[in-house]
Amino acid sequence: YRTLRVALLGAGAVGSQVADLLLKHGDELADRAGAKLELAGIAVRNIGSKRDADLPRELFTTDAETLIVGSDIVIELMGGIEPARTQVLHAIASGADVVTANKALLATHGSEVFEAADQVGAEVYYEAAAAGAIPIIRPLRDSLAGDRVVRIMGIVNGTTNYILDRMDTEGADFADVLAQAQQLGYAEADPTADVEGYDAAQKAAILASLAFHTTVPLDAVHREGITSVDAAMIESARHAGYVIKLLAVCERLTAADGSESISVRVYPALVDRSHPLASVHGANNAVFVQAEAAGDLMFYGAGAGGVQTASAVLGDVVSAARRHIAGGVGVGESTRANLPAVPIGHVITRY
Ligand code: HSE
Repeated sequence: YRTLRVALLGAGAVGSQVADLLLKHGDELADRAGAKLELAGIAVRNIGSKRDADLPRELFTTDAETLIVGSDIVIELMGGIEPARTQVLHAIASGADVVTANKALLATHGSEVFEAADQVGAEVYYEAAAAGAIPIIRPLRDSLAGDRVVRIMGIVNGTTNYILDRMDTEGADFADVLAQAQQLGYAEADPTADVEGYDAAQKAAILASLAFHTTVPLDAVHREGITSVDAAMIESARHAGYVIKLLAVCERLTAADGSESISVRVYPALVDRSHPLASVHGANNAVFVQAEAAGDLMFYGAGAGGVQTASAVLGDVVSAARRHIAGGVGVGESTRANLPAVPIGHVITRY
């Protein structure tokens, strides 16, 4: 097999698992990818954190810039906008394909990153950026490319689903459950991103952009979090036959004159207990997609967690390796070029 050089940026909950699985399943992945995936190094801010303990010390560096040069595939799992943006653009400019789980970066600088990649014929893979382990990026981008998606209703944040579910099933207290979600590694470094709906809004922008073949800017996404949801609200919802879920609802709207717009919003919604989304428990996520020809589809699974999300990252690494071996024939330009500009509408309704 040809050897491909893989650089990993970040060794947090997801990054450390990606490194571990790459090292553990190297031979099997080589058979699937058609290339040996050599983990060239792991760039971190500080060497010696708890999570690094089981990984070979010699792989660690604080010099991401040097590690990137000469790499075929760069996996960015640092999170946040900077320095992730700079390093991703550096990776693309150096000729690497990029695999990222960085929803914040893609929701705010996606166009810049994709344009930079298209210019040099590189590809950016981001299956792990929305709904953790659940395959949803490829289905929206590829499998449903011949259909017209009309609506997505997603539970796309594991932390808030975990909190609302525990409050609903056990009458647990908001603050206690949030602390548990943090301990279990579901919550973002700053859990405000979860409970105020920022994380879900970033994922909604990414999913809506793919589903409706346009660019939905993050500031066009209506966002409400779950901090105002209390035990009494959950109780009254239950009595009325509903469960409260933080939903990301992305819709194609058609006006009376036939013109179309898009509405993307994140809010705590009343979901009928008979709806499949009502039975999504714990930190799981689910994305319910309605398409004109395909009808209703539901994608379900672990939306958060290190090793679960690492599965999606490694799937992307295998895809990137296959593309390299096949001679760099990508899907980037064909799926992104000449996308029609669709007006974004703000329609704030309860579902
Ligand atoms: N904090 C996120 C969540 C992690 O709870 O869903 C996965 O993106």
